Amino acid sequence: MSATQATHYAVIRTSGERITPTRVAWVDTLFGQTVRLFFGLGALEDSTHYQLTVLGVRDAWGQPLFAADSATVETYTGLWYSYPIHDVLQRKCTPCHRAGNAGGNYRTDSYEALYDFGSDASSNPRPNLIPGDARSLLVIRTSPRHSMFNAGHLSYAESQLFINWIVTYQARR
Ligand code: HEC
Repeated sequence: MSATQATHYAVIRTSGERITPTRVAWVDTLFGQTVRLFFGLGALEDSTHYQLTVLGVRDAWGQPLFAADSATVETYTGLWYSYPIHDVLQRKCTPCHRAGNAGGNYRTDSYEALYDFGSDASSNPRPNLIPGDARSLLVIRTSPRHSMFNAGHLSYAESQLFINWIVTYQARR
């Protein structure tokens, strides 16, 4: 399938240098099929703007996937609380999780509050956020089809931000 050929993708630095992925994997999600690009360790820098270009991908009928046969998006590497997590929480969670209106006795209006226990403190004595732990309630509840994924109307991409920030980036500030 042409979407899994690494030569169809390039990440371009602001300096103009082109970096191609070492591998492209097909990922089936609840929300449709997507691809995941893999780059050599150290090929991309943390907290840096890049352009990602996709070109020459054909659909199942052999027709170009994009009108111009290529598409470019701006990307930013690295997840921090300060960006983009704080912004997602503000928009999608904090209206129901703040002082005076703390759903489940849990607040999302500060970095420290994310580590609280919430309403199930006695039955489940674990903080809702444990850096590196995919079983953190904050990860589970924001996963596709789980309650806060639905309540916050998260997109698949936003849901992935939570698990990647908490597990891979150790919930860094
Ligand atoms: C429409 C209001 C609403 C929105 C939006 C919302 N929540 Fe909730 N949330 C609640 C309510 C009410 C509860 C308590 C009932 C329950 O546990 O389902 C809760 C419970 C939780 C809990 C469990 C707390 C505990 O320890 O019992 C977590 C974690 C959580 N929400 C995270 C989030 C996150 C992250 C978002 C944003 C992606 C979000 N919520 C969006 C209303 C909301």
